[in-house]
Amino acid sequence: MSLAFSVSAADPTTVEVDVTAIGVLDSAFDKQKPLAQLDAALDGELFKHLERAQFRATPDQTLAVPTLGKLPSAHLLLVGLGPKRGMDEARIRRFAALTSRTAQGLGATSLALIAPDKGDMRTLGEGLELGAYRFTKYLTGDRVPKSALASVLVIKTSGRPTPSDKKALANGGAVADAVGVARDAVNEPPNELTPDGLAQAAKRVAKDGKLKITVLDKAGIAKAGMKLHMAVGQGSSNDPRFIHMSYVPKRAKKKLVFVGKGLTFDSGGLCIKPAPGMGDMKSDMGGGAAVLGLMAGVGALRPNVEVHGIIGAAENMPDGNSYRPGDVFGSLDGKTVEIINTDAEGRLVLADALAYARGLEPDLIVDAATLTGACVVALGQSCSAFYTGDNKLARRMDSAAKAAGEAFWQMPLLEELKEQLKSSVADLKHTGDRWGGSISAALFLREFVGDVPWIHCDIAGPALADRARGIHPQGGTGNPVLTFLKFVEASAK
Ligand code: BES
Ligand code: MN
Ligand code: ZN
Repeated sequence: MSLAFSVSAADPTTVEVDVTAIGVLDSAFDKQKPLAQLDAALDGELFKHLERAQFRATPDQTLAVPTLGKLPSAHLLLVGLGPKRGMDEARIRRFAALTSRTAQGLGATSLALIAPDKGDMRTLGEGLELGAYRFTKYLTGDRVPKSALASVLVIKTSGRPTPSDKKALANGGAVADAVGVARDAVNEPPNELTPDGLAQAAKRVAKDGKLKITVLDKAGIAKAGMKLHMAVGQGSSNDPRFIHMSYVPKRAKKKLVFVGKGLTFDSGGLCIKPAPGMGDMKSDMGGGAAVLGLMAGVGALRPNVEVHGIIGAAENMPDGNSYRPGDVFGSLDGKTVEIINTDAEGRLVLADALAYARGLEPDLIVDAATLTGACVVALGQSCSAFYTGDNKLARRMDSAAKAAGEAFWQMPLLEELKEQLKSSVADLKHTGDRWGGSISAALFLREFVGDVPWIHCDIAGPALADRARGIHPQGGTGNPVLTFLKFVEASAK
């Protein structure tokens, strides 16, 4: 799905659309020009109504006002922008997402949005398209939504519309569609999106974005020497896949590799998880989904950076052929690993994928994984952790995340915890103690990246949302595709 965008400088009281929307600052309403104009068109009734409805224009507050024939659109939609001070890209995107989500909820197929002062077209395009996202593939009969938002007219209140406005809106739409690719992959049920299903999705992304792709099946993974990846996948009748997508522009100065954990389902294996919440583990390919979405975005925006997307896809299941606690395996890197808990499978798949990524001799490796419950305990469901030994990279990551409006917090690679990974029978144990579980997982991964600059993202909290919040719908969020795209675009400069 994709919204049809147009831009004009039309009088907002005359446009023929289902819903006309406007962003409202929390300061004096009568000093906000387009709002005052709408109040006049409604014979001064709008401001009175806002008072009665206690509309304060805080961020996330919305109010739909029926126009009762006084305007061509059936509803005027007011959406809070909050204070003028500190207005930034993330707040604009969130506002635009809330606007389209609410308009679609009102049954609108066409929407006009009066562009707020600080709203650049790319960000508005992103937000509008993000907000209109729904996953309805498996609904039938009267569960199928009656209507979908199809077109958005963005009204500029200062300056003439230019062709670059329209291009920027379309780019924003393409970025949001890339996030949608990741959301779809997470939302797909695990019986449909198996490791091979994920590989098929990657092939579609590669085709649409003119990217190269190679997929290794079980035999290929074995032949390549990815023994840890093999171990995790060996208990499932849905065979593992290793996916490598690449975008290689002619004169790129930088080469970035993104690696995603692609556990299409994580039952815990022999160390099986408790039943409550196990279904959420269909989202355990959220890191892989983010890599998929990133590559879709890269294919659409075509920045001047070489970008590789790698996904280690497998299903972690209990079976007579499952790997067990006590097993020892080699790895692509060469190090041997003693298995402690079969539910710590993600770091094993990633270890081989990171070793492979290192072989591409990149300037940077970034991985994303729904890696540890400990990370969710530490930072909650809406914030991801990132780890890096490089302070410059940490700052670049911070600014990408801030612009994207996705919460990230740097956590430390505490050397003291390294001891926990010592094994008496192999080079490494793959888990440490319960305390600091997100950190010891990061330290385990670090063993496989060598000297390559590296950022590890533990996205266990934000990959899946229990309810719609800001730019995120309920279900698969597509987090952190926006951050990764910002990061890549900044690297192209
Ligand atoms: N996929 C889980 C982590 C997870 C938990 C993601 C909750 C999202 C929400 C991961 O494979 C896992 O099971 N980790 C274990 C590691 C432990 C056995 C060392 C955990 O966090 O409990
Ligand atoms: Mn697990
Ligand atoms: Zn897992």
